[in-house]
Amino acid sequence: MGTENKVIKCKAAVAWEPGKPVSVEEVEVAPPKEHEVRIKIAASGVCHTDLTYLYDCGKGVQTRPFPLILGHEGSGVVESVGPGVTTVQPGDNVIPLFLPQCFECEFCLSPKTNLCYKNWRKTQQCVLADGTSRITCKGQQVYQFLGVSTFCEYTVVPEYNVAKIHQDAALDKVCLLGCGVTTGYGAALNAAKVERGTVCAVFGLGAVGLATVMGCKAAGASRIIGVDINVEKREVAKTFGVTEFVNPNDHNKPIQEVLMEMTSGGVDYSFECVGNVTLMRAVFESCRAAWGTCVIVGWNETDSLSLAPIDVLMGRTLKGTYFGGWKSVCSVPKLVEDYMSGRIMLDEFVTHTLPLEEVNHAFHLMTKGKRIQTCPDLSAVLAKQSLLLPPFIIHSPF
Ligand code: APR
Ligand code: ZN
Ligand code: ZN
Repeated sequence: MGTENKVIKCKAAVAWEPGKPVSVEEVEVAPPKEHEVRIKIAASGVCHTDLTYLYDCGKGVQTRPFPLILGHEGSGVVESVGPGVTTVQPGDNVIPLFLPQCFECEFCLSPKTNLCYKNWRKTQQCVLADGTSRITCKGQQVYQFLGVSTFCEYTVVPEYNVAKIHQDAALDKVCLLGCGVTTGYGAALNAAKVERGTVCAVFGLGAVGLATVMGCKAAGASRIIGVDINVEKREVAKTFGVTEFVNPNDHNKPIQEVLMEMTSGGVDYSFECVGNVTLMRAVFESCRAAWGTCVIVGWNETDSLSLAPIDVLMGRTLKGTYFGGWKSVCSVPKLVEDYMSGRIMLDEFVTHTLPLEEVNHAFHLMTKGKRIQTCPDLSAVLAKQSLLLPPFIIHSPF
């Protein structure tokens, strides 16, 4: 019996309140409305941002409403489509996107940005275009993190938040192209536009940083200096293309001075892949006066960044990137094909594959520097109090 037009009961990892472990619950996923797509999730990466919004509200991020289903780095198969959907059909392999590409807004029409204004505010408020989510639990609306919610066996997203990908793509790998890898890889290729023979430094060697390293290598950088306080990153970073590894804790002077000395004046391109404003300043100061470019990749929406104006006056450029500068619907399918043809690595990013019910363990592993995927396939229902945090205000950059 088909599920089209019916509510689907399935498992999801529900975050009832911030700062507490998530619990696997039975949820109800409504059919897609007009221009929406319901997706059976195959696999989901755990991005640091999921962890941050659960445990560090206020520390570098603004809170989001609860109860909430996290996960924004997934892949799956279209189960059904709502009225008016033309770009995908049931059975298509897809990656749901937290950054849409509507092809209509001022940003989509500009080649200068990959941002899309469509439903930006609603997405940040974790609801779909009509101001509600499609997921409920115990009769209560459950918010969809960044409009996506991949820690759920099924989710519903707008058509313009869906990338249709190759039918033979390995869904348990290409899910990583839903966020971190795409962001880092594009930071090097699209934001910095790293040139052949240049010297790069990447600060923070999590998935985002390692993908940035991969982008620097693809662009032909001659030296790629990886900087991380976790020495365990030294070996894995070499796999991705780091030529020298620096642990700031091994030095008794500021890391920017260490980099200046190593490169006789600073690197051509530096990348901050942590989200720490103190580090951002050091990363900026590590790039060379006259032409150095620093790209902020790590997420931080609350703290202020302070810089010495003279460092900008002397010709350094400070840039940022969101989703690596890729126009999402058009670019993600191409990145999937780049993976399938061996031009980009994905398998090497995965350290653990866990069932959905172990997502709390996945968060724990992530705090220890591991990279994890969860496969939504199992059970265990826990009941908890729900909480909507007032006041609920989302900063909008537009
Ligand atoms: N200096 C150097 N490295 C650091 C520092 C520091 N001060 N602080 C943390 N790190 C390293 C950690 O040891 C870790 O290896 O940064 C890395 C961060 O990796 P992850 O925690 O795996 O994070 P990741 O998923 O790569 O995301 C990085 O990008 O999308 C954003 O929200 C995300 O802001 C986060 C950033
Ligand atoms: Zn992410
Ligand atoms: Zn748009």
